[in-house]
Amino acid sequence: MPPQFALCYGTRPQIIKASAVREHLARIGGVLAVDTGQHYDFELNGLLYQQLGVKPPDRFLEVGSGSHAEQTSAVLIRTEALLREHAPAAVVVIGDTNSTLGSALAAAKLRIPLAHVEAGLRARDAYLAEEINRRMVDAVAGLLCAPGPSAAARLHRERSDATIVDTGDVARDVLVRCLDQLPDPARLLPSPAPGGYLFATLHRAEITSNPALLEAVLEALGGLPLDAFLALHPRTRAALDAAGRYRERIGRLTLMPPVGYLESLALTRGASAVVTDSGGLQREAYWLGVPCITVRDETEWVETVDLGANRLVAPAAAGDLAAAVQSQLDCWRAGASWDRDAYGRGEAAGEVARAATAWLARST
Ligand code: UD1
Repeated sequence: MPPQFALCYGTRPQIIKASAVREHLARIGGVLAVDTGQHYDFELNGLLYQQLGVKPPDRFLEVGSGSHAEQTSAVLIRTEALLREHAPAAVVVIGDTNSTLGSALAAAKLRIPLAHVEAGLRARDAYLAEEINRRMVDAVAGLLCAPGPSAAARLHRERSDATIVDTGDVARDVLVRCLDQLPDPARLLPSPAPGGYLFATLHRAEITSNPALLEAVLEALGGLPLDAFLALHPRTRAALDAAGRYRERIGRLTLMPPVGYLESLALTRGASAVVTDSGGLQREAYWLGVPCITVRDETEWVETVDLGANRLVAPAAAGDLAAAVQSQLDCWRAGASWDRDAYGRGEAAGEVARAATAWLARST
């Protein structure tokens, strides 16, 4: 009987990546697709299934929002019940969210072989929620699929007992596949920007949980020499509402509702530069040849910085944003380009499926 995989995911970027992984796993065995429901708003969940043309999940666990403990334990408890019921040959998890950790723990405690896609990334801040999640999952998975050579090399140093494969980044697979379906960015902008525009997103707790910092970053974005458009993650909107600081325009910055995957790619491709704290957008800008400025103290995607595609600005130094944006724009206008293959060429999901087949054959 072919192996059955449980593929567990639950946030916006994971739904995107899971779409490619699911398709390739389905070619070698049955797939039980489990969406934990960590993200549940239409723009962050249902819309992505529609846009990517993937089947709805087989199970939707309705975990929703909560504290880290509430969210992770709800995923753990509900996934455990499901895994007991279906007894898959292996569980596949993606990335570094609370859904990733909860599903991984459920599998590991039931002694079900676990594969981690997007393994081996690290941040210096060991108490970052995502860093805790990825270190824990990398410690218990038997198959570690790294998105690039540096993550794979790190895993070889950390885990001599695991199967480690540099598969490349599955996010590029999905991007490559969608490039010819992107809408016209001019039709997506809330107001015309004839001189070019910056596309921005901010959602990380480091910024949204500190109202003064969030305000400083938004003010800095509004004071840049180009019109800027920020697609608001619900967490950022909630933070602004709670502080009584939500408004549609701040200087040259316009806040707009969250956008779908295709719209986000289109707005990125049409932008003069991207300003973000999202790991996904950093790579999408890099692949699309658009300069990025990342509002974080550090990035797990160090190659994008080394190649000149990305530049870090610490949130606490939001005043430096204008200079960083200008310098990225100058480099770009001067014709800067970069090698776009640091995380593979967009064939990662097939590599994940091949690695999983070989790994399961060896371990049974
Ligand atoms: C999560 C991941 C983060 C990932 C991001 C992708 C963790 C610890 N963090 O962050 O690594 O980069 O997803 O987007 O798992 N909310 C809604 N509607 C939704 C979902 C969330 O309104 O559909 C609001 C709620 O107020 C919620 C807040 O956003 O409390 C945060 O959501 P949560 O899932 O905890 O984390 P994200 O910030 O989305």
